[in-house]
Amino acid sequence: MDSSLRRRRKVFSVALPTAVLMLVGGAVAVQSSSPAAAAETTLRAAAARAGLFFGVAASPNRLYPIVGQEFNQLTAENDMKPDRIATSNGGLQNTGGADTLVNHAQSNGMLVRGHTLVWHSQAGALQGASQATLNTFIGNAINRWGNRIAYWDVVNEALEDNNTGRRRTQWPHSMNRDANGDGDFFDAGDTDVIRDSFIRARQVVQAGGLTTKLCINDYDVEGLTVQGGTPNRKSNALYEIVRNYRQYIDCVGFQAHFNDNPNSIITDDLQANIQRFADLGVEVHLSEVDIDDDLSNNDIGAGQAENYRKVVRACLNVAKCTGITVWGISDSESWRSSERGLLFTGGNGNYQKKAAYHAVLDELNRGRNVVTPPPTTVPPTTAPPTTPPPTTAPPTTAPPTTAPPTTVPPTTPPPNPSGCSATVSLNSWPGGFVATVRVTAGSSPINGWSVQLTLPSGATVTNAWNANRSGNSGTVRFSNVSYNGAVSAGQSTEFGFQGTGAATGMTPVCTA
Ligand code: G3I
Repeated sequence: MDSSLRRRRKVFSVALPTAVLMLVGGAVAVQSSSPAAAAETTLRAAAARAGLFFGVAASPNRLYPIVGQEFNQLTAENDMKPDRIATSNGGLQNTGGADTLVNHAQSNGMLVRGHTLVWHSQAGALQGASQATLNTFIGNAINRWGNRIAYWDVVNEALEDNNTGRRRTQWPHSMNRDANGDGDFFDAGDTDVIRDSFIRARQVVQAGGLTTKLCINDYDVEGLTVQGGTPNRKSNALYEIVRNYRQYIDCVGFQAHFNDNPNSIITDDLQANIQRFADLGVEVHLSEVDIDDDLSNNDIGAGQAENYRKVVRACLNVAKCTGITVWGISDSESWRSSERGLLFTGGNGNYQKKAAYHAVLDELNRGRNVVTPPPTTVPPTTAPPTTPPPTTAPPTTAPPTTAPPTTVPPTTPPPNPSGCSATVSLNSWPGGFVATVRVTAGSSPINGWSVQLTLPSGATVTNAWNANRSGNSGTVRFSNVSYNGAVSAGQSTEFGFQGTGAATGMTPVCTA
């Protein structure tokens, strides 16, 4: 090893979560065991005590003192995007703004997130570039700042809007080739700009002996579901990408731009979804948080401060949720100023704390793994104890045999006084389907379940969520993941899977 590399390793060889804490002034990684410990008075100190970073997106002209006082992580809002720093052959240019940010971060003990290497938007001179050119740019950018960048968003916003679960079709995702046409990009022979960009980034990090972590980042992926309880297909697609390419990916950014778009609301299963990704072994970050202050909207209408509290709590309760970054300092300087989605008002360095700021600080000071009263999940006191919950399809109403082919009602579960039962609902279209399986505990609580079902000939499962899966055709078995194995007596949990072909007449068998 050459001596300069050895020097770099010496400086940066500390594991990153530890580095976060060292950088913010010697705070310890776990909550203080002293019940009398005074509450911290800045976001960064409170976050450090809980073992995560609390960051902000910024531009070089907004590096006011508050940046280093309140935050211990910095994301370049625009200054590390290809349209700013890439040349058409993958070289670097105009890195002055990025350098200013990195230097400011370093002198204020802040981690840096590089944002972003491969993106369909703000691509600048790279628009339409080949994978080879993207790879050149990836190498140049990562090596330019080395370990001074703790996290790089290697791929940003690869998935389509509107909860389709598909990848975008515009460049660079048009470089994807699904060679065997099976609907995924994970087979040998497929080309995949996501995979290939991560492979390149991983090579660069390894060759340089860097500790920089490699992230994939997207929005509308935060919950397991979107408005109305519909499965979040975009999140499921991201999950499959991370699961398939886990060896290249260290971290996942849930952008967390929350607003009243049906796919962008805060759902009660946010924490469960963070946990689902964390269970893959990656760090999860809430990487670009803003929360629309639209109190007239019932979906997020608990009030902005309470919504912030809820989002921060969801991260704090998952050990591998290692950072939260807000997308700007103050409402008026946000690129979405009309949503008033940030923690401060004011401008030009003169900022005032909002109620949302105090809620976030308070929640951070409460530390990790606090059980908050979950008002939305408290069972109604009038619920009859022995009958299934009203959301379960009534067993006495036999599904009509002429049910329309696109929405098949759940199958009737066999009687199951203890153990568990399962029903399956199908949404089908020509050539494909999504199945939602509801697992219901019998008269005793269960702690772990598995569901077996047999697909008709020609049907194949392409991805699943909220369950581990073995097999993809014929008899397929699903079992609980860490966060949904425990089900109280008479209560239910759901998992889902997507497939190709026609999936009719499946009878799930549940074992607890
Ligand atoms: O710098 C030019 C300036 O010279 C010119 O006078 C002005 C005229 O419009 O434009 C300025 O550039 C703007 C740039 O922000 C810097 O302010 C662009 O027009 C504007 O499009 C650009 O918007 C950025 C946006 O990404 C573009 O997609 C926002 O600042 C930035 O906050 C936003 O960030 C994205 C993340 O990268 C990815 N996730 C979503 C997120 C926003 O929610």
